[in-house]
Amino acid sequence: MNKKKILVTSALPYANGPLHLGHLVEYIQTDIWVRNHKMNGVDCRYMCADDTHGTPVMIGARKAKMTNEEYISKIHEERIEDFGKFLVEFDNYYTTHSEENRNICEHIFNSMVQGGHIEEKEISQMYCEKDKMFLPDRFIKGTCPKCGAEDQYGDSCEKCGATYDPAELSDSYCTVCHSKPIMKNSKHYFFKLGNFSKELQEWLGGGHVQEEIHKKLNEWFKEGLKNWDISRDEPYFGFKIPGTDDKYFYVWLDAPVGYIASTKNWCDKNSSDFESWWKSPDTEICHFIGKDIIYFHCLFWPAMLMSSGFRTPDKVFVHGFLTINGEKMSKSRGTFIKASTFAKYINPEFLRYYYACKLSGGIIDIDLNFDDFVLKVNSDIVGKIANLGVRTSSILSRSLEGKTGKILEEDLPFIDEIKNSAETIKQLYEKLDYARAMREICRLSDVANKFVEDSEPWSLVKTDPEKTRSKLTASLEAFRLLVLYLKPVMPKFASKTEESLKTGNMDWSHINSTLENRQIEKLPHLATRTEKESIDKMTEETKKENEVEVKEKTEEKVEISEIEPLAPECTIDDFAKIDLRVGYVKKAEHVEGAKKLLHLIVDIGGGIEKNIFAGIKSAYEPEKLEGTQVVIVANLQPRKMKFGMSEGMVIAAGPGGSDIFVLRPDAGAKPGDRIH
Ligand code: MSP
Ligand code: ZN
Repeated sequence: MNKKKILVTSALPYANGPLHLGHLVEYIQTDIWVRNHKMNGVDCRYMCADDTHGTPVMIGARKAKMTNEEYISKIHEERIEDFGKFLVEFDNYYTTHSEENRNICEHIFNSMVQGGHIEEKEISQMYCEKDKMFLPDRFIKGTCPKCGAEDQYGDSCEKCGATYDPAELSDSYCTVCHSKPIMKNSKHYFFKLGNFSKELQEWLGGGHVQEEIHKKLNEWFKEGLKNWDISRDEPYFGFKIPGTDDKYFYVWLDAPVGYIASTKNWCDKNSSDFESWWKSPDTEICHFIGKDIIYFHCLFWPAMLMSSGFRTPDKVFVHGFLTINGEKMSKSRGTFIKASTFAKYINPEFLRYYYACKLSGGIIDIDLNFDDFVLKVNSDIVGKIANLGVRTSSILSRSLEGKTGKILEEDLPFIDEIKNSAETIKQLYEKLDYARAMREICRLSDVANKFVEDSEPWSLVKTDPEKTRSKLTASLEAFRLLVLYLKPVMPKFASKTEESLKTGNMDWSHINSTLENRQIEKLPHLATRTEKESIDKMTEETKKENEVEVKEKTEEKVEISEIEPLAPECTIDDFAKIDLRVGYVKKAEHVEGAKKLLHLIVDIGGGIEKNIFAGIKSAYEPEKLEGTQVVIVANLQPRKMKFGMSEGMVIAAGPGGSDIFVLRPDAGAKPGDRIH
């Protein structure tokens, strides 16, 4: 990095839900990087904003019974509070729902039109007749056309990473009301991405993205760049497209423009020259993003910039996803941990440290394992680093008036060993290899703790106070350096230390300052051990929150959609014909080639076994059923199905997907018992 200025962004979080620990991987990764540059005296600015437009936000507002504007401003306040707790310090945290953003979007769109990069085309799209809206990709689910994975979103497959058009999905359904969408025509605006194919390939070959990302993108080039639909129909929350009265910019057009708009807003407030940030080659522009939004940042976004006179980014840093205890975060598993819930029970700076230990600049996923978390923060931060400072400063305060002395000649090599790592650590931060930086800091803290053990200040002070003063001065100096190294990760820990040791606001130039011959204050309590109980409380609370949300999500379906027309009347006599019996599942297995069915052999007593195909595969593993009892319609006329004859029906109900529940008889029931 030799440039004068660096402009840094993190992806703009959607304003349709609370900040969670997954998001924080990115904001913490970016914040550490920015803080390191700032400590290095670089004019580095960190811009972000809420991504406020699009259908999910609109639906979120509707549910909350608020206007879109009220809804996004409530989220905005919560965000700022959450980021504050985790010490993520933006130079500007703005919103995409701003006049600056509208103006720049219109400017970019007009440039695209003038450059001949926009095509108008009537297209046929998935439309939900019940909800009366065109369905965005994320509101359609179905089977991936590439790998056949079920229940994948309309834009991309989480299993194989393929991206596609929602119409290519098989078995598609509207995620709001679960009905089958129809196709409907309307006029759309397309950005001709292919016009930039050559420039994009050049850009990608220029070292602006990680090598693995470059490879991935090359595959996409091989498949050919498709035109990009940048418009959406009403109802939509967003910016109207100039010259139309019912078309809106697709949220992904105005979202990255939010990076520029946030900078513009900051420049206006701080009398900084906007052009020097977004149009000058002397500024380094760096985006941090997750692996799910590469296409937008490495293809669409640079092409948009190319089309409109802005410069392209210097770096797009992609990180992996957070898993919790080895699994994807999920509301149904109760591991969708909100930033605010975490902060209630656990020191947020510890999460920063833990993430730092896991982040090394690649795109592999990182795992938050709570047993490991507790061990690590307690041993490294509390046991090694805080303890080093607190025990040395307290002897100094208690027995030696809190005055440091001169470091002995013989101890200079020890101090040098600590100092010699400064450059390495600084560079590891720059290279995003925080994990190695943390390991180096821990190694040095072992060296420093050994120094204290060896010099035994607690007993030396009784016989030679002045030598003790020197030894403690060296120990504290080592501690000060370690805190300086750790400062990008643990800024609050650092500022408490700075205050007591009276070092002033430390940056990388403070490597060569000294603690010798000064009055210091006893260090306050710097870090408290994290107890397993706090984790348990946090996990409990999260489970409850997640349960409520999963439940609300099921209920809301009824509210937004209309009720399905009722079937023809059924008399009590018709109903009485149904013979429900307790059945014992002797065998349960997958059916080759069937997406929804399980094959069951059910014993209903009296030596009768029924062969049944049941559509409950999405909710039950065969092992969960085998050896258990269910309730079946025992007198159903046998039906020939594609995979064989079905001689009964398992009673089950639920909204679908993993939420289908078979009716379970009482514990004492026997196969063949009749259910009334
Ligand atoms: N609004 C878009 C970004 C627009 S940028 C012009 C968006 N928002 S998001 O809220 O879904 O995600 C924000 C960032 O957090 C993204 O970079 C995303 O990859 C990251 N993460 C969201 N969940 C994550 C994990 N579970 N783990 C790690 N990062 C995750 O995408
Ligand atoms: Zn619908």
